[in-house]
Amino acid sequence: MNTSEEKSLNNSEDKRKVTTHRLHEMKQRGEKISMLTAYDYSMATIIDQAGIDVILVGDSASNVMAGNVTTLPITLDQMIYHGTSVMKAVKRALVVVDMPFGSYQGNTIEAIASAIRIMKETQADSIKLEGGEEIIDSVARIVGAGIPVMGHLGLTPQSINKFGTYAVRAQEEAEASKLIKDAHLLEEAGCFAIVLEKIPAQLARQVTNELHIPIIGIGAGPYVDGQVLVMHDMLGINKGFSPRFLRRYANLYDEITRAVRSYVKDVKDGDFPSIDESY
Ligand code: KIV
Repeated sequence: MNTSEEKSLNNSEDKRKVTTHRLHEMKQRGEKISMLTAYDYSMATIIDQAGIDVILVGDSASNVMAGNVTTLPITLDQMIYHGTSVMKAVKRALVVVDMPFGSYQGNTIEAIASAIRIMKETQADSIKLEGGEEIIDSVARIVGAGIPVMGHLGLTPQSINKFGTYAVRAQEEAEASKLIKDAHLLEEAGCFAIVLEKIPAQLARQVTNELHIPIIGIGAGPYVDGQVLVMHDMLGINKGFSPRFLRRYANLYDEITRAVRSYVKDVKDGDFPSIDESY
């Protein structure tokens, strides 16, 4: 076993609860942060005991759980349902629940009320919201209420109708400068970490070097403090989604298809259940 394998094994076997403070320490000592999405009790149980550092109850539930084309339709009540299910499973990981579209963009009063509902009803550790300068007052107010906030910049899927495309963001100078400014504003407002989605690796590297809080990338290259993927994508449950940044660690679509076909055949053939499987 080489040193880096030993190091990651030791870290994933560390049973202490992951906190925002521990994420900060991980950045300081150069230990990468692992983050995945989960939306239900059973999958959250598996990925928590496997040693993931952060579980995001992402509004990508709108796509992978509810079958919507975008993240916009999912409601606050639905996010609270997913958050509550995940929280029943998790012992070690830090849990972040996404604030859904429409629950915080209106004004700071609405934003703080939505954040408090998520924290009270799910008992999650923190919330995440998308955007920079436009929502900075709400971020400061939520942090002021004692709620840890994770920011999200770059490709922000709740703004897909404004962007009109899921292409790489911040390739032009003006958008890159705004992203750097927004990242600093989020840090100053008290965010404990920021997700950077689908931006050039060198821009993500600059933000990571300039900020003291952990930067978690998705399609933002290797020079960040941690990585996040949507669980259904990395397990190969989704077939039709293959962006360059996605590495698949399993092929569950084919695996599940094979299992279901075997079951259907056994039932049709009268092979299941056997006498041993009967009472
Ligand atoms: O909702 C989600 O899954 C996310 C990740 C893509 C970071 O926000």
